[in-house]
Amino acid sequence: MKSRLSLSVTLLLFVLPMIGCMQTKQKDAEESYSVSQIQRGRQLVAASNCSDCHSPKIETPEDDLTPDPQRLMSGHPEGTPLPDLPYENIGAEGWERVVYTTDMTVWVGPWGVSFSANLTPDPDTGIGNWTADDFINTMRTGTHMGMGRELIAPMPWEDYANYSDDDLMAIYAYMRTLTPIRNKVPAPIPPDDPLFQ
Ligand code: HEC
Repeated sequence: MKSRLSLSVTLLLFVLPMIGCMQTKQKDAEESYSVSQIQRGRQLVAASNCSDCHSPKIETPEDDLTPDPQRLMSGHPEGTPLPDLPYENIGAEGWERVVYTTDMTVWVGPWGVSFSANLTPDPDTGIGNWTADDFINTMRTGTHMGMGRELIAPMPWEDYANYSDDDLMAIYAYMRTLTPIRNKVPAPIPPDDPLFQ
């Protein structure tokens, strides 16, 4: 009798909470984020101006450009011809020589030409296949998925590298809620590309 009692006590005290824990882990694997986490991510993305560079824009009735709510964070729209910019600035040092398009998705400077990335959950052209770790490591190290090529300007990853794990996770959680947009952003063009010679 006594041992049966202690068995059920053991079950209650240790085994059941462990099963509970396993279920929470399982949930993580299936990516469930809390509403407050997603809201925090949305606020951080707004405060960090990610959308200024990462969203295509539409014109408002007042002739201003604003992030297109239908294509939020989907990066430089593919197929758009290279805009008319003073490309002679390519390779020139100094931020005063940097130029960009009005929608802020194409940037020209000493690094060549960069195009803002598609951060929607599209698996082929966005970051749909990235894990939270891939995203956090990218933001901390300034390299593609935390191990690939180094990100070039003007992606200000150093400004975000010291965000806490919770904050970067919240940004990732929010971005998982965006509409996946199929948009293949062009690779950056280096300053010595024959296109500019
Ligand atoms: C000033 C413009 C600008 C701002 C602000 C900005 N980015 Fe970027 N971001 C870029 C550009 C341009 C690239 C592409 C860089 C490259 O090709 O190396 C990029 C690349 C990235 C990448 C890498 C994608 C990949 O495939 O490797 C991630 C992730 C990213 N940005 C997330 C963010 C987040 C999150 C924010 C806000 C917290 C943000 N960016 C703010 C311009 C910006």
